Amino acid sequence: MADAHPATLPGSQIYVALCAQCHGAKLEGYIADNAPALNNPTFLESATDDFLKASIVTGRPGTAMAGYSDKLGGPLDDAAITRLVAYLREQGPKVKELAPITKPGDPAKGEALYLKSCKTCHGDKATRGDAPHLANVMFQAQASDPFIKHAIVHGRPGTKMLPFAGQLTDGQINDVVAYVRTLGSGAKFAGMLPAPTGKEPLVINPKGKDPAWKPRDGRFVSVDDVAKAYKAGAKMIIVDARPPSDWMRAHIKGAVSIPYHDVARLNDLPLDTWVVAYCACPHHLSGIVVDELVKRGHKKAVVLDEGVNVWHTRGYPMVAAEGVTAPAMPAPGAAGAHDDHSGHAH
Ligand code: HEC
Ligand code: HEC
Repeated sequence: MADAHPATLPGSQIYVALCAQCHGAKLEGYIADNAPALNNPTFLESATDDFLKASIVTGRPGTAMAGYSDKLGGPLDDAAITRLVAYLREQGPKVKELAPITKPGDPAKGEALYLKSCKTCHGDKATRGDAPHLANVMFQAQASDPFIKHAIVHGRPGTKMLPFAGQLTDGQINDVVAYVRTLGSGAKFAGMLPAPTGKEPLVINPKGKDPAWKPRDGRFVSVDDVAKAYKAGAKMIIVDARPPSDWMRAHIKGAVSIPYHDVARLNDLPLDTWVVAYCACPHHLSGIVVDELVKRGHKKAVVLDEGVNVWHTRGYPMVAAEGVTAPAMPAPGAAGAHDDHSGHAH
């Protein structure tokens, strides 16, 4: 990772420092947590600069996509976000004027179609699939009806998102759009905790014993094993590797914010204490932090295997801003469930 602060870099290098970990070096997507492709022509021709900017500023709370704006504790100021958007823009076609939906659809008819043709991948209000979560409060705030329709009609070539033109009539597609809109109802904009100061105490239970876990492959400890040690009062450091905006929404109680893009504080971590790093992805950003710790001589640095969202869903100790609830997760056994341990690079 470059030593310069990401906000000082040109757009292409900000991308490498902050985004390629999940969206891929060529914007092809699908490196971590099913992060979508950002170079897809049907995406770029329908995503306005405002849409791209808003996606980067606020992220998609409850998913691996964090908010990167400095106004939300993130690393990027407005000018840097503008350079980054310009870089994304250069990777595909110009944005098109999309036709407005003149005959609004019927959400009740759309529901049946959605359950049959969309839910396995996109989930519903309460569960996630392995495709972008359409019930997400920020997706709902940022995506226009024509943007949603464009994705359904044309699909996203080269991804699992197939075009529905020809399979569904124009009227049926309008019905589905109307139903997708209802997925956002009841979703609330949640508050934020104060930004981390960098002075939060590092060690949880400094007088406790070492945890008794046996990391899988010397690197991964399960959410249940960490929660057990935590409850037993074991001594450990928990590092939140996500951008600080995510920490400010909700974090494991006692976790310190040391984001993957600003790891200087790792130098302060004592070598004799177990360190558990986590992210939402569930391995990529935490994996970067553990690699940095190993470089610094740590032999007791591990990744929280299933990630923080599983910890949150199981009801283990969290500190959350007002209105933040456990994120939607894949239904057990569903395609997007993170129950395979084989496919991850870290
Ligand atoms: C830890 C993984 C991760 C990182 C790092 C990350 N993203 Fe994302 N991003 C995601 C995921 C996952 C989604 C889809 C979220 C969902 O389910 O709705 C997403 C969604 C997006 C979207 C919306 C795409 C769409 O089709 O609507 C944009 C734009 C985006 N990211 C840009 C960026 C940029 C630019 C950066 C770097 C500043 C970045 N992301 C960093 C995981 C990541
Ligand atoms: C087989 C899985 C699958 C099915 C079925 C599916 N999608 Fe998708 N969809 C995806 C994936 C994957 C993406 C993201 C593709 C990319 O750009 O990388 C996506 C993208 C989208 C987007 C754009 C989201 C964004 O943030 O950019 C919308 C809207 C959408 N799908 C709606 C639907 C609707 C409505 C249906 C049913 C009529 C449907 N999809 C069926 C997998 C699926």
